Amino acid sequence: MDCRHIKFSIDKAKVDLIQLQALFNEVAFWARERTLEDLKIALMNSDPIVTVWDTTRMIGFCRGTSDGIYRGTIWDVLVGTKYQGLGLGRKLVETALSHPSMCRVERVYLMTTYQRKFYERIGFQENKSTTMVLQQNTYEINSLPLSGESFEPILKESEQVFR
Ligand SMILES: CC(C)(COP(=O)(O)OP(=O)(O)OC[C@H]1O[C@@H](n2cnc3c(N)ncnc32)[C@H](O)[C@@H]1OP(=O)(O)O)[C@@H](O)C(=O)NCCC(=O)NCCS
Repeated sequence: MDCRHIKFSIDKAKVDLIQLQALFNEVAFWARERTLEDLKIALMNSDPIVTVWDTTRMIGFCRGTSDGIYRGTIWDVLVGTKYQGLGLGRKLVETALSHPSMCRVERVYLMTTYQRKFYERIGFQENKSTTMVLQQNTYEINSLPLSGESFEPILKESEQVFR
């Protein structure tokens, strides 16, 4: 395939949510139920966001989150079925890794079920020792401390006697 007309973008504003949802539905088994509203929230809170374009068609996507210096994570690397195997996935990840919000980060993480080999080609290594997951966050916003609220530790019975 002649790829000379294919372009990469790091412009968040350019992302087309409808096309993004279609791309998720096409190639991302872990994300087929994502709504436009939720995708919008994920994009707002992600940086960098990299997209690939065949003229007006969005054919690739990936996003990252980062603290800019210590830790970053790459999420949702997607290339449309017709465009896979051309080097676009590698270029998506490399573009995200060289973005200013990611390029100084000490350690970049990612989660993958079936694409270890792809990420190994880019330099990622198996990491079994440090990762844990909270499957569904049930903490609620009203459990956040109020501004200036003092912390009242839960005292053990014996400590209460001598208080
Ligand atoms: C995984 C995915 C992003 C790869 O994108 P791609 O454009 O097809 O990959 P590339 O052409 O850039 O491949 C880069 C390198 O990885 C290798 N590679 C790609 N997919 C591979 C696979 N499944 N197994 C082994 N090697 C693979 C390529 O051979 C290439 O190696 P090279 O650079 O030494 O020639 C794409 O297949 C995809 O979108 N899949 C569905 C969504 C998905 O699973 N995303 C990952 C979520 S964790």
